Amino acid sequence: MPELTVLDHPLVQHKLTLMRRSKTSTAEFRRLVREVALLLCYEITRDLPLEDIDLETPLEPMRASVLAGKKLCIVSILRAGNGLLDGMLDLIPSARVGHIGLYRDPATLTPVEYYYKVPEDIAERPVLVVDPMLATANSAVAAVERIKRDGPADVKMACLLAAPEGVRRFHAAHPDVPVFTAAVDRQLNDHGYILPGLGDAGDRIYGTR
Ligand code: PRP
Ligand code: URA
Repeated sequence: MPELTVLDHPLVQHKLTLMRRSKTSTAEFRRLVREVALLLCYEITRDLPLEDIDLETPLEPMRASVLAGKKLCIVSILRAGNGLLDGMLDLIPSARVGHIGLYRDPATLTPVEYYYKVPEDIAERPVLVVDPMLATANSAVAAVERIKRDGPADVKMACLLAAPEGVRRFHAAHPDVPVFTAAVDRQLNDHGYILPGLGDAGDRIYGTR
């Protein structure tokens, strides 16, 4: 069964509510995205593998756990994905980063790719694709399709808000990719915006409208 995890942690829900308010300023919105991203990342990375190493504490030798294997690769769907990326890098500064540039054609709502750059060895890394909004899911489906062509076996998708229609579409296209979100809202409107939602995530993070 495809996985959908809704992070119902009170801190996540509180911050998300502040982000939804139309009067929340750009500076506050950007700060909140970053904070929620860090909390999302904490939950999503729960299953990262560990290995033991030998070390010396100031008092005695011991074996203790560190992350095993190749570092996580976070792929940001430009441009709003960068808001989530920043918070995740606060938590995992050694993560590798990829970018995929996509925008939604406002008439057809289909994604148009304008940029793609990921680590050369992405096939060997766990991958976390980040975009605040999973609306129709056209962008996320296309991004994951493109990333899968490069061969990673372990791909996860993280967003802030999802529409039920988007979750169904994403799971139909990528049943092997678990989705993590802070909330699943009611529905999409006729322009593909999530209701009640938080508006245009890119515009709210960067103050472009
Ligand atoms: C927004 C959002 C997603 C996409 C979601 O980006 O950040 O990428 O829409 O919609 P979908 O699920 O229907 O594809 P947008 O196209 O507005 O580009 P931007 O990040 O450059 O603002
Ligand atoms: N993209 C956004 O930024 N917001 C929505 O509600 C839908 C797509």
